[in-house]
Amino acid sequence: VRVGWVGLGKLGSVCASVLAAHGHDVLGFDISRVRELPRYEALAAHLTPVPQGTLGEVVTHSEIVFVAVQTPHAPAFGGETEIQVPAQDFEYGYLVEALRALFAQVRDQSKKLTVVIVSTVLPGTINRLVRPLVPPSVTLLYNPFFIAMGTTVQDFENPEFVLVGADDPSQVELLDQVYHAIHDRPLAVVSIESAELTKVAYNTFISLKIVFANTMMEIAHKTGADCDQVVECLSLATQRVVSPAYLRGGMGDGGACHPRDNVAMSWLANRLDLSVDLMGFVTDARERQSGYLADLAAHWARMSGTQQIVLLGLSYKPGSPLLAGSPALLLQSQLENRGWEVWTYEPYISTASKDVLTQRAVFVVTTRHPEFRDFQAPPGSVVIDPHGYVRPAPRVTLVGVGRKAV
Ligand SMILES: NC(=O)c1ccc[n+]([C@@H]2O[C@H](COP(=O)([O-])OP(=O)(O)OC[C@H]3O[C@@H](n4cnc5c(N)ncnc54)[C@H](O)[C@@H]3O)[C@@H](O)[C@H]2O)c1
Repeated sequence: VRVGWVGLGKLGSVCASVLAAHGHDVLGFDISRVRELPRYEALAAHLTPVPQGTLGEVVTHSEIVFVAVQTPHAPAFGGETEIQVPAQDFEYGYLVEALRALFAQVRDQSKKLTVVIVSTVLPGTINRLVRPLVPPSVTLLYNPFFIAMGTTVQDFENPEFVLVGADDPSQVELLDQVYHAIHDRPLAVVSIESAELTKVAYNTFISLKIVFANTMMEIAHKTGADCDQVVECLSLATQRVVSPAYLRGGMGDGGACHPRDNVAMSWLANRLDLSVDLMGFVTDARERQSGYLADLAAHWARMSGTQQIVLLGLSYKPGSPLLAGSPALLLQSQLENRGWEVWTYEPYISTASKDVLTQRAVFVVTTRHPEFRDFQAPPGSVVIDPHGYVRPAPRVTLVGVGRKAV
């Protein structure tokens, strides 16, 4: 494939050379001339820097152009020192400038081109800053890399998966061809917004795991446990701990153990004088996230003119009447604390009455009971579904929390 590469920095110079080494015809462009590949990159010594041209030449040459210019943060946020100032977004000026120049060339040459943004951006950025600049002849893709400095070649040649954000999955065929020459890993094609979020979610999840492991280390140090033994045991739990299990947006954690365990661990954090009360934070987050759903339900109850809020399900486990530690009960209490009268329907409790299902209301699907999948709310109702579970019904507003409207 005839490939262009804009931004031949630490990431771009190496990846562009890898593409060339696998037989693609690559022409690069950088505002400052790049002569060699980073020396700290393990396998880069075998690679040759790609030829460079002007931006116009790159556009003429290419069917597909990757853009990997920097999206830096102020040095204060680098993590080398404690952060003393309020958090900020990345700096997108370089990326926007590079794209503006690229799109101007595309317009001048009336060129049909696939443009692949590689640079890291926060969710929503491409729609906000890039979309208004894109000429109609450009197919825009977002393809962030999961690459660590020092192992760029290995990570680029052996990814776990290739994340691609696209407006339409049919647009990724050319990109697929580019990667097919290198590996057979799957392309995970999602919307551009989801790809933006997945990229940063991947990184922050790793940070969360590290903070978690370090919390275990500190507790082990103060109690006589061995943190390596702990994580070696946890690593055996490849179904529930190290897996996609429990990795779905929805209600908070529930059950007789988890919420209590976190509270107890938070108490221990204080007793051991741990540097970070991670479990206290987790407990707080669980409550606040439930509070967010309470506010959402209240918002829709006001908006829709119905004063009736009904929780569908009280148990924390689908298909069961188990109430211990249920996040539905937490939501109920938070709504009541906000002054709302709340009705509930729990089909697994024998005293449950279906009367509350017959009137127009705001229904919140609090438990993934199979009965609720095809729930038919009365016309004019609102169904808030944090689980992304319920099928849409006519004349009912379905609010799929954090999911594209269905
Ligand atoms: N380095 C990594 O391992 C890595 C991994 C994953 C993601 N990323 C992301 O990739 C992006 C690039 O990272 P990097 O480490 O290579 O940055 P970098 O600063 O090393 O390189 C950026 C390059 O873009 C060039 N550039 C800037 N403006 C330009 C323009 N208008 N036209 C052409 N070239 C221009 C710069 O001269 C520089 O050579 C960032 O968004 C980063 O977050 C980097």
